Amino acid sequence: MNRLLSTRNLLGIRELNREDLDLIFETADNFKNLLNSKIRKVPTLRDITIANIFFENSTRTRVSFELAEKRLSADVVNFSSSGSSVSKGETLIDTVRNILSMKVDMVVMRHPVPGACVFLAKHIDVPVVNAGDGTREHPTQALLDAFSIREKLGTVSGKKVVIIGDILHSRVALSNIFCLQKLGAEVMVCGPATLLPRHIESLGVKVETDVRKALEWADVANVLRIQLERQDIRYFPSLREYTLNFGINKTILDSLNNNPVIMHPGPINRGVELSSDVADGTHSIILDQVENGVAIRMAVIFLLSQKINNN
Ligand code: CP
Repeated sequence: MNRLLSTRNLLGIRELNREDLDLIFETADNFKNLLNSKIRKVPTLRDITIANIFFENSTRTRVSFELAEKRLSADVVNFSSSGSSVSKGETLIDTVRNILSMKVDMVVMRHPVPGACVFLAKHIDVPVVNAGDGTREHPTQALLDAFSIREKLGTVSGKKVVIIGDILHSRVALSNIFCLQKLGAEVMVCGPATLLPRHIESLGVKVETDVRKALEWADVANVLRIQLERQDIRYFPSLREYTLNFGINKTILDSLNNNPVIMHPGPINRGVELSSDVADGTHSIILDQVENGVAIRMAVIFLLSQKINNN
């Protein structure tokens, strides 16, 4: 019997259980093998149409979802809020319902408002995949991050992962914390005290404000971008000061007794949170993360499409 996900939508990692995560990774393993072969494409979803609806800018997530859908032979329609009738006052629900009336079977949505995907899923009857909703969750990013750790280190369970940077404004941090903990990793967050949410310890994570101590503790450091576009007030005196205290460069890495794997979800502020010699160096698996995003998104779309067929 086919194994199925426990959920009809992918709105966040919080809703997934351990069996869901294992199923997504095993399915992604198969798709990664396919992508590394000469074939690269399967006819599996040739009867399915997917709308990618982006109300916020994206490079990696958007291209990765579109490629994943095309590798599965789905029909794909891409919608950006810029240049659309949203600027004339059309609501989110009206926008999506109009697109769905053209016989669309699944929606992938990025939106700047936390919870927008949860709201949408309550109002439409096709599966919704969250491609990042404000500061809430970015589930496929966390899945591809954990998949990349598993690929590099053999397992996620028991590994020590520090998430460094702007935790306060990061949907990637939250989804990573949920995902890594469900997979049995130890998680630490590190950054300026002003960019660490109050009571973050209640999620069961360690907290550190000294980046060197954090790196010495870690098997993996997932370094986040300073999200200036989400910062309504100043959280540190200047970017230069941030870099001096929290930026990771080769001199710091070379002075450690351990060799943490360096990750970053992108886009990188080169010279701010990571120097180029680290981003492009031997510790970095940043482009492996991007590559793995296609296999993970193929797995998610394939598994959710099975729920459509079973209805
Ligand atoms: N990691 C990530 O979400 O990148 P994009 O904003 O370019 O999609």
